[in-house]
Amino acid sequence: MFEKPAELKKLFEEKLAGVTATADVEQLRIEFLGKKGSVAALMQELRNIPNEQKKEAGQAINETKQFVENAIAEKLEELKKLEEQKLIDACESYDESMPTDNDIGSYHPITLVRREVENIFLSMGFSIEDYSEITDDYNCFEALNIPKHHPARDMQDTYYLSTGQLLKTHTSAAQNTILRKYKSSLENGNPIRAIFPGRCFRNEKIDACHENTFFQMEGMMVDKDISISNLIYFMKTMLSEVFQRDITVRLRPGFFPFVEPGFELDIQCSICGGKGCPSCKDSGWLELCPCGMIHPNVLTAAGIDPEKYIGFAFGLGMTRLAMMRYGVKDIRVFNSGNLKALSQFTEKSFTKPEESKEA
Ligand code: DAH
Repeated sequence: MFEKPAELKKLFEEKLAGVTATADVEQLRIEFLGKKGSVAALMQELRNIPNEQKKEAGQAINETKQFVENAIAEKLEELKKLEEQKLIDACESYDESMPTDNDIGSYHPITLVRREVENIFLSMGFSIEDYSEITDDYNCFEALNIPKHHPARDMQDTYYLSTGQLLKTHTSAAQNTILRKYKSSLENGNPIRAIFPGRCFRNEKIDACHENTFFQMEGMMVDKDISISNLIYFMKTMLSEVFQRDITVRLRPGFFPFVEPGFELDIQCSICGGKGCPSCKDSGWLELCPCGMIHPNVLTAAGIDPEKYIGFAFGLGMTRLAMMRYGVKDIRVFNSGNLKALSQFTEKSFTKPEESKEA
């Protein structure tokens, strides 16, 4: 009996068991099935086998050859699947619920308002500045003339990080950085005109008009001869552009340690048309834009001489502006992730009091 085909089969099986990559399977195929491979060598040996055993030996060699071919094909299939799976596992996970091309979603109403206001200020020569949501005590308070233990801090409790840093409570936290950034340009005769939108955080009791996470847009202008008239002009121009109609505003004195004098600019509530509703706490007015002339201590903290330069600053409540602009009655909608409510706003839509949208 010609034993070699069975021995070769056993050897092949042992080697195949140790193979873990498709490239190694190919090596094995050449070793066993190649022109100079083990199976071909067995075929050569057939010549020396007595005639009466040739048929049986030939069959045995063919069976081994068939076995090797099938086993190699199977192994290749198995390894390819494993390798594909490895590639899939290495890829970043993907979100099956992402909208497809037919359902691409819409911009958040605050993004729409932010872009609109940015464009208006860009056309008035303001630059748009970026600023971190994480800041520190100095930038958020000290540099703004709010020393430790000042009662103004009570209204601006926020989230403190283990590093001692904090989430900014107002966009004013960027004033010092931006004043410093443009200080030398100012000294070369270029007024500072900057807006800096951003997300702010406060420990707030949430209701229809208060959120712990909201958006503001701060603006500053600093030059040699700036007056309150400049401030009022910029505010009026911006608001009439945003609402695309005449809106009623009122100015009240307001106290903020970083401006002197300080004001509250209120706009008439467009949801109730001034009659009073929960969004405006039944007053008919919404505080929209506190503002004032930058306090000399704030300029000094940024290395700018308050004897030479003067400026105004404002902190526009952008979330509130978006409520007014689109007639959203409840501030909580903005952070709700409720796509039905949030996707109804388009670049063109704006609300008159009588046709305010349900949110
Ligand atoms: N940062 C103030 C706040 O969030 C708002 C503010 C008031 C900003 C007066 C200003 C300003 O720039 O002049 O309460």
